[in-house]
Parts: sequence; structure tokens; C-alpha cells
Amino acid sequence: MKIDLNGMLYALSYALDCVEGELTGIKPGHGKWVAYFCVRMGKEYGMTQEQLFDLAACAVLHDNALTQYLSEERGEAVSNGRTAGKHCIFGEENMKDFPFYTDVRGVILYHHENADGSGFFKKKSEETPLMAQMIHLADLLDVSCRIHEVSAERWQSAERFLASGRDRLFDGSLVELFFRSVQKEQYLALAGRQIDGLLSGELPGKPKEYPFYQVQSMLKVFGKIVDYKSRFTRNHSEQIAEKLMRVAEAYGYGQETKERLYVAGMLHDIGKMAIHNDVLEKPDRLTEDEFVYMQNHAWYTYVILSQISGFEDITRWASRHHEKLNGKGYPFGLKAGQLDEKERLLACIDIYQALGEERPYKPGLPHEKCIAIMRDMARNGFIDGKITDDLERIFAPM
Ligand SMILES: [Fe+2]
Ligand SMILES: [Fe+2]
Ligand SMILES: [Fe+2]
Ligand SMILES: [Fe+2]
Repeated sequence: MKIDLNGMLYALSYALDCVEGELTGIKPGHGKWVAYFCVRMGKEYGMTQEQLFDLAACAVLHDNALTQYLSEERGEAVSNGRTAGKHCIFGEENMKDFPFYTDVRGVILYHHENADGSGFFKKKSEETPLMAQMIHLADLLDVSCRIHEVSAERWQSAERFLASGRDRLFDGSLVELFFRSVQKEQYLALAGRQIDGLLSGELPGKPKEYPFYQVQSMLKVFGKIVDYKSRFTRNHSEQIAEKLMRVAEAYGYGQETKERLYVAGMLHDIGKMAIHNDVLEKPDRLTEDEFVYMQNHAWYTYVILSQISGFEDITRWASRHHEKLNGKGYPFGLKAGQLDEKERLLACIDIYQALGEERPYKPGLPHEKCIAIMRDMARNGFIDGKITDDLERIFAPM
């Protein structure tokens, strides 16, 4: 499957920023700003194009395990030094099957190490990969000096911060590299520019053919992030993606379509990253207001995926999974004539899967019960009756 991998990462980093914002108060765009300054440093250093791609990918995903960490260590503050190193370990682990061009071992693991060895893993700068040091510097510049706000005042604050952190937080040569890679006038010229454009201008996307198993392994990282955000729906996305493949097989869809449906299934709830955990994790049924707020997740799925070029069909299928044939769905309120077979299919499988899953307020239902409820919904004009019949047959317990 052809994918512009970095373009995809940039779009999905929005989802990560939402979670990180919820936990640490950073602003959307954080991952991309970190990547932008890293790429500037990497170019100044003379990194190859492949290294720059890997550096940008790691920079965008430096905190990919924050949601996982959140569910592992519920209730503990991220700034709590005792547990904060965990997201580095899980973050590195999550990315181990990712199709990097170069060897990036240790880059995510050591993104919080200080030059003087006072970080989580007590590694000094000579023991940490340069990419990890770059991410550390750009991350702190953005978090501590809000460098993304671009103003003379922010620049001064960055200068002060780097001077005081020299040889303590960051190696002196890295600080010098940063100032060679971005000069004050160049920095101030970024004012009012969108980070998306800046980053893709610095490192244009390169669609490349990836074998499906690699596409799957990169998507698992994101499926995990979504599913980890809410412990009640663990593995929901992956289960849906696999069921979609099974039905696609039974329908005789071609390999390419099957794979694209899998991608849509893995990412259909990516917009949940933008929804607050109080609502996502609420143990009882949602109030009407909360339900309306929760519905935004399908819109965010649309916003996030529509940024990825070549994902037009996947975006449509994924973002329409809560549409109903009678126009009573969301986020667009589309009607039967506007919903094609694949969109209807994802909607049906999402319902079938959710009914079968256990939630704090309901048990997981067996196959026949799920189908009976769906038949009712089909009779009342909500979902596709023929697809419901097909699911009854395809997923019938042996
Ligand atoms: Fe981090
Ligand atoms: Fe960060
Ligand atoms: Fe959903
Ligand atoms: Fe879902």
C-alpha cells in the first residue's frame, strides 16, 4: 500500500497533542514544532534525508506512550519523576516494528536524558543518540519557553533557557548547533506561519510503497494509543479492523480495498483522542450533553484523517461510522443515498463490536443478541438490513 508515512504521522500527531494537552497543558502542534526544530538541527548537522525522516518521525511521536502510561499509572501526575520514565520505555517499545530507514534505537527511550546524567535513566550526552538529545532540546524549548508562539520575547526566553541549561540539560555543542540552525531573524520570520506548512516545507512527504504487514504494525501503534485512552474499549479498533477484513474477504473485495478498509477500521475512532477522559472513561451512561460532546469524536476523525493525502476514501469510511441511513446519525447527518456499502459496513461492524464488548454499565452480548438488536435498528431505518444479515452469517459462532 502506498503511504506518505511522515504526512500520516504529522496528521496523527494532532491526536497525540490533544492527549498531551489534557495531561500536561501543551498546545496542539507541539509534536510538529518539536519535529520542525529537530529537522532544522539535523540539516545543519548534515544528516541524510533518511535520517531526517526518522528524526521527524521520532520527534512527532516522542510521547506516543502517554495514553498508555496514563492507563498504567492512573491518577499520577506526568511531572512525577517516579513514573515519568515509563512513557519513554513504552514509547520505544511501541515503535519497535515501525519501518524506520535507519537505526533509531534509544531515540525515544532517552528523550528526557539530561547532559549531566540527571535524567530518568542517568545517561550522559555521550551515551544518548544525537536524535534523542535534539528531541529533548526542542521539546523543552517548546514546553518551557513556548517557542511556538514566535515573538522576540519568546526568542529571548529561549536564549536564556539554553544558556542556563548548557552542559547541564544539553550538551554545549548541541546548543551551538541549535543557534546555527535557527537564527533570530529566521525565527521571527516564522510568525503567523502554520506549523503544518513549515514542517512539510522543510521535509516534503514522500509516498512510498509499504508491504501490508508494515502498514499494520504502524497502525497498531495508533490503534493502541486510541484504545489505551479508554480502558473500556481496549482492542476495539483492532477487532473492528479484523472483522472488516473478514467481511471484505466474503464480499470478494480486492486486496487493496481490503487493506484500506483495515486502515479505516484501525483509525475510525482516532477522533476520540480529542475527547476528554472524564467523558470517555465515565463509568455510567452519558448525560445528553456529554453524549453530544462525545459525538464530536467522529468529526475529529474526519479533521485528522482528511489531512493525509491519498487517504480520501479511508477518511470517508472512517468518519462516517456513526451516520445512519435515516439521517439521524452524526457528524454530517447524511442519508441512505449518500452512504455507500463500505460506509454502511463500517457503521454496522462498529455497532456489532460495541454490543459484544463489556462496558461498566452493560455486559458483552452474545452474537444472536447483537444481531437481534441490529435487526431492530435495520427495521427502524437506522442501519443496512442486508449487511446485518451478512454479519449474522459471517460471524455466526461455529
Ligand atoms: Fe516525554
Ligand atoms: Fe513533548
Ligand atoms: Fe465511534
Ligand atoms: Fe468505534
